[in-house]
Amino acid sequence: MENIPVIKTERLTKIFPMGKGEFSALKGIDLKLGTGEFAGLIGPSGSGKTTLLNILGSLDSPSDGKALVLGQSIGKLTAKEAAKLRKEKIGFIFQSYNLLQVHTVYENVEFPLLLLNYSANERKKLVMGALEWVGLTDKIKQKPPQLSGGECQRVAIARAMVKTPSIVLADEPTANLDAVNSHNILQTMARMNEELKTTFLFATHDDKVIGYLKRKIYLKDGMIDKDVTN
Ligand SMILES: Nc1ncnc2c1ncn2[C@@H]1O[C@H](COP(=O)(O)OP(=O)(O)OP(=O)(O)O)[C@@H](O)[C@H]1O
Ligand SMILES: [Mg+2]
Repeated sequence: MENIPVIKTERLTKIFPMGKGEFSALKGIDLKLGTGEFAGLIGPSGSGKTTLLNILGSLDSPSDGKALVLGQSIGKLTAKEAAKLRKEKIGFIFQSYNLLQVHTVYENVEFPLLLLNYSANERKKLVMGALEWVGLTDKIKQKPPQLSGGECQRVAIARAMVKTPSIVLADEPTANLDAVNSHNILQTMARMNEELKTTFLFATHDDKVIGYLKRKIYLKDGMIDKDVTN
């Protein structure tokens, strides 16, 4: 297990149908991430950041080339295998949050733990811990429509991190946060990365996030333009 990269792509290509033609969102990405990296995809809007995260999160499949996550080939997995990979190993923070609108903050964060059969006591401890990380213990009974954008973003972050996954894929996780909340959350993530060797891959244009990254992967028009490790 030791030398299997957490993430590895080879000539990864993603083509979307567009009108009568098609559009290449990823044009041959070769990328390798090891255990415990704290890396970010940086690039202009439309450069392919979300497309790449979606494939690595097994929410979408490659059109060509390979994407391996913990040695498993995305696109070759059955729906059940992909669901198991997501449930057990991956925490995903979506650009659009994807919260359950009719459920409370507490229930949204608890959800991944229900899928993993944690006991009620363990769930309570973990959920309250995660809500403390993001500073939302006073809103546990509220539902997403009653929260601000930044609060929804923090619920999504707590939900992704509550099960302490091997990989966290975070799409613009600070887009709606003020400076204080951004730094608090980035420090929590950096601590989790240090202490648990959780691998983080962000998509971001936020200088606050970029300042914390140990590795910066610049995307341009669906290609890696630069890859810089501190
Ligand atoms: N389902 C889709 N069908 C067609 N085109 C798509 C689809 N998803 C993404 N694209 C196109 O692929 C390109 C890359 O999109 P992507 O969402 O990955 O960009 P991004 O780097 O995350 O941008 P942003 O910073 O705005 O979030 C865009 O030009 C987009 O229009
Ligand atoms: Mg995006």
